[in-house]
Amino acid sequence: MSERINVMRPWLGAEEVTAVTEVITSGWVAQGPRTADFERAFARAQGVGHGVATSSCTAALHLAMVVAGVRPGDDVVVPSFSFIATANAPTYVGARPVFADVDPTTGNLTAQSVEAALTPATTAVIAVDQGGVPVDLAPLRELCDRYSLVLVEDAACGAGSTYEGRPVGVGADLTTWSFHPRKLLTTGEGGMLTTSNPEWAERARRLREHAMDVSAADRHASVLPTRESYTEIGFNFRMTDLQAAIGLVQLGRLEEMVRRRRALAADYREVLDSLPDLRCVADPPYGTTNFQSFWVEVLPGFPMGREGLMSWLAADGISARRGIMAAHREPAYAGHSGQVVPLPVTERLTDHTLILPMYATMTAEELDRVVDSLVSAARSAMRPGGGGRP
Ligand SMILES: Cc1ncc(COP(=O)(O)O)c(C=O)c1O
Repeated sequence: MSERINVMRPWLGAEEVTAVTEVITSGWVAQGPRTADFERAFARAQGVGHGVATSSCTAALHLAMVVAGVRPGDDVVVPSFSFIATANAPTYVGARPVFADVDPTTGNLTAQSVEAALTPATTAVIAVDQGGVPVDLAPLRELCDRYSLVLVEDAACGAGSTYEGRPVGVGADLTTWSFHPRKLLTTGEGGMLTTSNPEWAERARRLREHAMDVSAADRHASVLPTRESYTEIGFNFRMTDLQAAIGLVQLGRLEEMVRRRRALAADYREVLDSLPDLRCVADPPYGTTNFQSFWVEVLPGFPMGREGLMSWLAADGISARRGIMAAHREPAYAGHSGQVVPLPVTERLTDHTLILPMYATMTAEELDRVVDSLVSAARSAMRPGGGGRP
């Protein structure tokens, strides 16, 4: 039996080990100078003024809601077609996530789908670069400016993707990033909030550290005792220097990660484009994806449904994943009042897409094994909705 092929593997190596070792031997392992370096380097790489490192993208989304001034009773338009953290962020501050549908090709919000979901209480929009595919931000920017809404970009999956020739996230008021191992650039767990608004960055930086007016790093670096005060109710959303040291190494590898993933996507497409009943994710006309998720939609003509195809791949030792979830269908949002428009595209994509293995260190042999399995499934004589090999 050949070795199992995972859907994703982080690309970590000796450089990360050295970086973490240096932090350990320095004696400063909590949030400190490495975190500050990582924030500066990441913000520079993304073409924005400020980076605030956090313990996760979920924490960064929560902070984004607070600094954007989203309050109890507000509505925030979000895609249901996203990891549930996107919808949870407004909920954390007492606001209501209102679900908008997505574009069938990109899986992202559009200005039209957001406008259809606006209510008199809407104060913000969270647009997602789903699976790394850049959201078409300019029309959303225009819409948000017209209605005076804060535009947050959930770029959890988007490091290395571009929009109109620049990194994603540049055109939003606040952008959030994830460094979970399912993403390209990983720090184990971790996230970042970026913004060009210095006041928001400053407030987020304080809030992630209990809203202390003197950071723990400054307090410990000072020989004289400092007296800090707590300016409002804050959080512990800190990143550690151990994580930041890994992040700095990973950031230096991001370009190569994207290059390799885009080459793998091209290799997949060389064969899969000849299977008319599988539709592969692709670059939109206005940008490039980092292929954080290489997803395919199983169209009605394919000999088996999505579940059947996942079983088929599993029998060949290949681990695929169901496509992006639909938050409005989860028990956490059962009976939720925030579904004000139908979500047919979300439901179709959630039910019929799957994510294929892709990671920077994937070999040509591994990719061939996945492709061969898909081709044999396409040539099988099973009926739609079938469940695995005959
Ligand atoms: C679109 C989106 N937003 C937010 C998150 C949450 O990220 P984290 O695990 O870093 O909190 C994820 C994670 O999968 C995501 O895909």
